[in-house]
Amino acid sequence: MSLALSACNGGDGRLPTDYRNLPVPADLLASDEARERGREIFREKCALCHGVRADGNGVRQEGLSARPVSFQSKEWRASATPRGVYAVVSEGKRGTSMPGWRTLTDQEKWEVVTYVLSVSGDGP
Ligand code: HEC
Repeated sequence: MSLALSACNGGDGRLPTDYRNLPVPADLLASDEARERGREIFREKCALCHGVRADGNGVRQEGLSARPVSFQSKEWRASATPRGVYAVVSEGKRGTSMPGWRTLTDQEKWEVVTYVLSVSGDGP
C-alpha cells in the first residue's frame, strides 16, 4: 500500500513526515539541463494524462478520476511547492488516477518536478 496524498498544495508542514523535511536540491531546480531532462520524462510518462503542453489536456481523459490540473496555471504554481510535487510524484494522489512513480530515480523525480514547476513561467 502506498501512502497517498490528498493534495500537494499548501505548506510542506502538511506533508507526510518522510517528505516534510526532505532536502530540496535548489541547484538542480534552477538548472536548465534538469528542466530539459524533466521535460523529456514528462513527455514520455506524464503527457498521456497531463497533456504535451502540461495544460491538463492529455489524450487520455476517459476513466480518469478527475481532469488533471493545468501546470500552466499561475494559481496552481502559487500553491505548489517542490516537496509537495515531489511527494505526489513519489506516492500518487489519493482518490485520483494519479499513480506513484516508484520506477523513477530520486534524480529523475526532481527533474520532472523542476519541469512541472517551471511550466507556468517558462512555458511547456
Ligand atoms: C494515468 C494518468 C496520469 C499519469 C500517467 C500521470 N498523472 Fe499526474 N495526475 C493525474 C490525475 C487524474 C491527477 C489528479 C487531478 C489533479 O490534481 O491534477 C494527477 C495529479 C498530479 C499532480 C498533483 C496536482 C496537484 O496540485 O494536486 C501532479 C504534480 C502530477 N499529477 C504530476 C505527474 C507527473 C510528473 C507525471 C509523470 C511522471 C504524472 N503526473 C503522470 C493523472 C495522471
